[in-house]
Amino acid sequence: MQTRYLPAQHPDTAAIAAKIIKNGGLVAIPTETVYGLGANGLDEAAVAKIFEAKGRPQDNPLILHISGPEQIELFCHHIPQKAYDLAEAFWPGPLTIVLPAKECVPKRTTGGLSTVAVRCPDHDAAREIIRLSGVPIAAPSANISGKPSTTTAQHVLHDHDGKIDAIVDGGPCRVGVESTIVDLTEERPRLLRPGGIGPEALKAVLGDLIVDKAVTSQVDKDEVVKAPGMKYRHYAPQEPVVIVSGSREQAAAYIHRHFEPGDRVLCFEEELPLYQDCAPLSYGQEADVSTLSAGLFAALRELDDPTIHQVYARCPVGGGIAYAVQNRLKKAAAFHIVDAEEEL
Ligand code: TXA
Ligand code: MG
Repeated sequence: MQTRYLPAQHPDTAAIAAKIIKNGGLVAIPTETVYGLGANGLDEAAVAKIFEAKGRPQDNPLILHISGPEQIELFCHHIPQKAYDLAEAFWPGPLTIVLPAKECVPKRTTGGLSTVAVRCPDHDAAREIIRLSGVPIAAPSANISGKPSTTTAQHVLHDHDGKIDAIVDGGPCRVGVESTIVDLTEERPRLLRPGGIGPEALKAVLGDLIVDKAVTSQVDKDEVVKAPGMKYRHYAPQEPVVIVSGSREQAAAYIHRHFEPGDRVLCFEEELPLYQDCAPLSYGQEADVSTLSAGLFAALRELDDPTIHQVYARCPVGGGIAYAVQNRLKKAAAFHIVDAEEEL
């Protein structure tokens, strides 16, 4: 099939995209986090096409994108006050809330679970398409399963040109890492995936937050985890990635000692002069962590190259969005981290 290219700013784009969604097709849509591969979340056959296009495991549930908090009760029941508190504080925005699912949500969308994830994206084009289509849009990140997420329309076309009905180009995604996911189906709120909203901001609203173990450690693919997506290899270029922690100087000393031809260094812009002979690639400025989150996936895609042997990566420290960058990089590195200070 020919994939239609629809610029977000064109006045007819939202209506065309919404019509394709209503008719059971697949449309890649921009959001503030990453591009999503969208379909009617209530239509099993349409949802099945998402899994097929991505090569996504059937047990990995999808997020329903809705146009506002008033839609939560259409798809969820037993909604605690905390859900509304979170929606009021962070929607539209990079926060996904997991709640008990109503019967109308197909098991294909929820990966067989009795819960469903909902989010209202902070992107005008995305919300307009949801509104005009009249259905919740199920949309995983628009990458092929396991690959780094898509933060530009070009990334999406690279992975799906000719396999999906249309792409809406809204330019590069502002946040660059996926939404934060909070599960509100248990007694205590649980962070399933760090993202655009930092854990401190969540705690300020919720008062209490457990961090799921899949966030901080590698989980086995046979383990039962709360967010099934967390157990799969993710975000990773094809070659091994190792995170080198420690000060700028310690890390540079370690990397120079181990660097071999064919290796690459993924670092902060401020560090480029330190790695001139190590094929460095910067993904943003350490002094402005939002540039790191915005640039991370594009950089990981650039490093997804069979001629590269090994990537040494530098990772920001701290909370807020840095916490999400750490999580994505650790997953790309399969939690392989060396401490340059200890290795001196
Ligand atoms: O920012 C985002 O969230 C992007 C944009 C497109 O909105 N979407 C996204 O979707 O990242 P995806 O499918 O790549 O990641 C969704 C994650 C997966 O790890 C999945 O397992 C988890 O959400 N998830 C979905 N529904 C769930 C549920 N009912 N319970 C627990 N985890 C769920
Ligand atoms: Mg994804």
